[in-house]
Amino acid sequence: MKVLGINGSPKKEGNTYLSIKTVTDSLEKGGFESEIYHIGGKPIRGCVDCKKCQVNKDRRCVIDDHVNELIEKAAAADVIIIGSPVYFSNMTPELKAFIDRGGRVFRANDYLLKHKIGASIAVARRSGKNTVISDINYLFLIQQMIVPGSTYWNGLIGEKPGDVLRDDEGMKNLKSLAENILWLASRIQS
Ligand SMILES: Cc1cc2nc3c(=O)[nH]c(=O)nc-3n(C[C@H](O)[C@H](O)[C@H](O)COP(=O)(O)O)c2cc1C
Repeated sequence: MKVLGINGSPKKEGNTYLSIKTVTDSLEKGGFESEIYHIGGKPIRGCVDCKKCQVNKDRRCVIDDHVNELIEKAAAADVIIIGSPVYFSNMTPELKAFIDRGGRVFRANDYLLKHKIGASIAVARRSGKNTVISDINYLFLIQQMIVPGSTYWNGLIGEKPGDVLRDDEGMKNLKSLAENILWLASRIQS
């Protein structure tokens, strides 16, 4: 099985990456192949509501940037973990653009993400994590995906890159998230 991590931070090895990697590393130990895709910092446009994806139904957005590459990676994965740093109480704009444009394309093509497992992660210096977690979960839920729980909401505390590794409770929660994903994936497979 494959897990795709999507990092909404422009920092390639920042707190969001380290949080996603904590989960994908555990899944790798459970037999998964993994990849983390960095969408943060890439030049990505927002949705222009042209509705061409609903006419063309070709698994693509007519704005041909990195979103199309990521749509195919998401369609090929069994588990998708999306993480974002909190920016002014919200997710990063690149990630939001992917959710808006990818979200339309997934639905226009017979729900490309249907029955995949999805988990969201947010990292903040202080506050706004739950807003981002629920906003990412809205994508999963409208795509008919399955969202496993953990022992807390998947929010981590950190400012400078590496801080999250010292958030003991947050890290412990990510371990239980990974265990629950493995449990769920094995039931879905059987
Ligand atoms: C533009 C900007 C806005 C931010 N807004 C918030 C915020 O609303 N709440 C908060 O607690 N931290 C905020 N932060 C801090 C980041 O969420 C925090 O440093 C996070 O660990 C960065 O994750 P990264 O290393 O993956 O990029 C903000 C940082 C930036 C650059």
